[in-house]
Amino acid sequence: MHFDPFDYNFHEDPYPIYRVLREQAPLYRNEAKGFWALSRHADVLAAFKNTAQFSSRSGISLEASDLGDNMERVLSILGMDPPRHGKMRALVSKGFTPRRVARLEGAIRALASRYLERKAHIGRCDFIADFAGRMPMDVISEILGVPLADRDELRSLADTLLHREEGVPGIPAEGIAASGRLLEYFDRSLEERRRKPGDDLVSALLEAELDGERLSAQDITAFSYLMVIAGNETTAKLLANCLYWLDRHPAERDKVRGRPGRIPDWIEETLRYDNSTQLMARTLNGDIELYGQKASDGDKLLLLIGSANRDESVFPDADRFDLDRDNSEHLSFGRGAHFCLGASLARLEARVALEELEARLPDWRVDESGAKRVHNPNVRGFSHLPIEFSPVR
Ligand code: HEM
Repeated sequence: MHFDPFDYNFHEDPYPIYRVLREQAPLYRNEAKGFWALSRHADVLAAFKNTAQFSSRSGISLEASDLGDNMERVLSILGMDPPRHGKMRALVSKGFTPRRVARLEGAIRALASRYLERKAHIGRCDFIADFAGRMPMDVISEILGVPLADRDELRSLADTLLHREEGVPGIPAEGIAASGRLLEYFDRSLEERRRKPGDDLVSALLEAELDGERLSAQDITAFSYLMVIAGNETTAKLLANCLYWLDRHPAERDKVRGRPGRIPDWIEETLRYDNSTQLMARTLNGDIELYGQKASDGDKLLLLIGSANRDESVFPDADRFDLDRDNSEHLSFGRGAHFCLGASLARLEARVALEELEARLPDWRVDESGAKRVHNPNVRGFSHLPIEFSPVR
């Protein structure tokens, strides 16, 4: 049996191979690439919670080292272990508060309705290019206080950063260059905020203090950058995955039609069933022995979130897309110390976006013939997803 996310690029359906891994090689070894992979829910959950043995210090992706000198600057709290992680997370949480997130609902609704109105009279659009690929980055810009005039440039840098060439491993040169330019942009805007504070997250982080400690300029820039890599593509892919899977399951769609109260169930089941973030990498601190095998200190290990979410021992009939099931144990936002700081924002964005879609274009349907998936060893979702609907005059 062979498993390598770089072969897959999550283009093909990874769930059949996950099943084989869970049953036959719950601690899988890829000798050629030198990594291990955990696929059962209990093991992935335990590893998420055990930051002492499963370290994030060398990044959370097999390809992270491609960023070279920029790596430390771009990973922020995502690439830290306790105790530094806890301290830094507490500090950034002073700026990125539930109140700041909840306050965004009106702005998110305005963005969603503006994008939908632009296409409503045409009767079809590309749900990625015209909606899902735009909104999350707009929301992050809103949070960071990026002026309207800079948003297109920032979006294009973020898109370049995330783009992967088919068949070419690693981050392309353009992506690395975009990463540098994004950091430069955040450096500049931090200095502007220092001179002229506003009601944005960066200004709040400049003020944040805990036990006499403050965030350095580099800490704040790194966190701004992390918002883009962690919150943009993941949320965009979640939105399109929601449409794709509901459209393929008419009986589930009937449960949502005319019942906006069921939209959160639609979102949670999509997160479980086909999450945009398929895996997270860790580096071992010390040796571990599991299932009769020994993995050594310093080895890379993948936590297969997408596989854990289809584990029959936690989710009976796991391959069924079912809005009525208990999916509260899904691991799509991770667990433990690194649990996604943006989970409530992602859920808010998805709920508001889908509420607006259902209210304005209730008979939307996916045109599968034009659907295209992204090539990426970590992320699963679409680069194009055409939808059709009755034009609104
Ligand atoms: C569907 C959307 C999203 C998914 C599936 C997702 C998934 C995840 C996962 C699995 C982790 C854990 C990483 C680990 O254990 O190493 C994480 C962490 C994180 N996410 Fe998200 N995320 C999403 C949206 C967002 C958004 C919208 C933001 C903010 C704008 C965000 C910010 C973060 C941050 C800052 C962390 C690091 C937390 C830490 O290391 O303590 N995420 N996310």
